[in-house]
Amino acid sequence: MKYFSAKVATQESFCNREEERKALMRSMQQNEHVVVAAPRRYGKTSLIVQAIREAAQPFAKIDLFCVVYEDEVTRKIAKGVSEIAQQLLNRTDKTLTFLGTVFKSATIGLRASGFEIMVDFSKNTTIIEHIEDLLSGLERIAEKYQKRAVLFIDEFQDILKIDHSTQIQAAIRAIAQHSKYITYIFSGSSRVMLEKIFDDANQPLYMMCKKIPLNRIQDVHLQNHIQKASQAKWGSLLPDAVIQKILTLTECHTYYVNVLCAELIELPKPPDASTVQHFWNNQLLQYHGKIIAELEKLNTNRLKVLSTIALMGSAHRPNSKDFLTQVRMPLATVQATVKYLLDHDYLYQTPDHGLQLVDPLMKDFLSRQYH
Ligand SMILES: Nc1ncnc2c1ncn2[C@@H]1O[C@H](COP(=O)(O)OP(=O)(O)OP(=O)(O)O)[C@@H](O)[C@H]1O
Ligand SMILES: [Mg+2]
Repeated sequence: MKYFSAKVATQESFCNREEERKALMRSMQQNEHVVVAAPRRYGKTSLIVQAIREAAQPFAKIDLFCVVYEDEVTRKIAKGVSEIAQQLLNRTDKTLTFLGTVFKSATIGLRASGFEIMVDFSKNTTIIEHIEDLLSGLERIAEKYQKRAVLFIDEFQDILKIDHSTQIQAAIRAIAQHSKYITYIFSGSSRVMLEKIFDDANQPLYMMCKKIPLNRIQDVHLQNHIQKASQAKWGSLLPDAVIQKILTLTECHTYYVNVLCAELIELPKPPDASTVQHFWNNQLLQYHGKIIAELEKLNTNRLKVLSTIALMGSAHRPNSKDFLTQVRMPLATVQATVKYLLDHDYLYQTPDHGLQLVDPLMKDFLSRQYH
């Protein structure tokens, strides 16, 4: 059994997220479009895929990560529409005839496994018209068969990198705002970009979606999850001190809990706290290059503020005289710098309004450098 995955968590590697799953299920049942936003590797994709599977609705996932050409987006949408259509109807002559009447510009290709809905770029049709045609066709298919389905568009912030981004967003909105059978779930990690898409009144997707923010999984749930794995592997529970060590070092960041525990669970006997520390130090060595690459993107002021907060562990009053003296910067500069670091997911705000580093390994790296 695999309890800790570095990839998308499913089945026994999936821990909790009860509230968020319930919220997503409700939205899917009510055909309410959703956007799930959180920093990198918080568990957005895992949560959404898990919830859709539980909702047992036909679905397709489109990943826009680093997609920069508009015909590539269109092709991906066509593939997603095909996948859902395949789940909604069988390949019979009747359904093929029906599909032929649903789309204006898309064409239907026959495959051994069924059929495929394709975009014919040679036609005198704009990309925007193609996208509208695909999405409205999908809605019509679901309506005809009276079945709900979900189109999940992951890494949606990258839509901003595409030519004619605003028109593409408008095309999606034009169809999604009238849809009764297809629920749209958008997800992404760059808060500043997602806010631009979903919170800016001048942007076409403004106000159309319910927003589900994703925080870290609570320690108690992670603890139960780790103990379940420990019980299955060694037939006993780990001592509290060991669990605390894991959760303190990883700061309950699911990705790091997983990469650390995936190694610990391979040990022939249960680890003690110093073994946990040893494996964490190894992680630090392993991720060294990545952390440096992330830090190299920051200018001096950003680096100063980030390192100071890393050393403090958590900063509750970044506007205070103490903090300003420590970083040796004026208030306005600190405020602008903190905003940048929050917007770009270097920092996050804890529920008690403290500022902390998103990445626990980066925090460890910086505190060791400056200590
Ligand atoms: N509910 C969960 N239970 C256990 N592990 C989880 C859970 N959600 C996510 N993870 C783990 O956290 C890591 C990140 O998960 P996932 O890829 O779903 O996050 P993401 O927010 O979509 O990341 P990205 O921003 O890179 O797309 C993976 O190692 C995954 O296995
Ligand atoms: Mg993801």
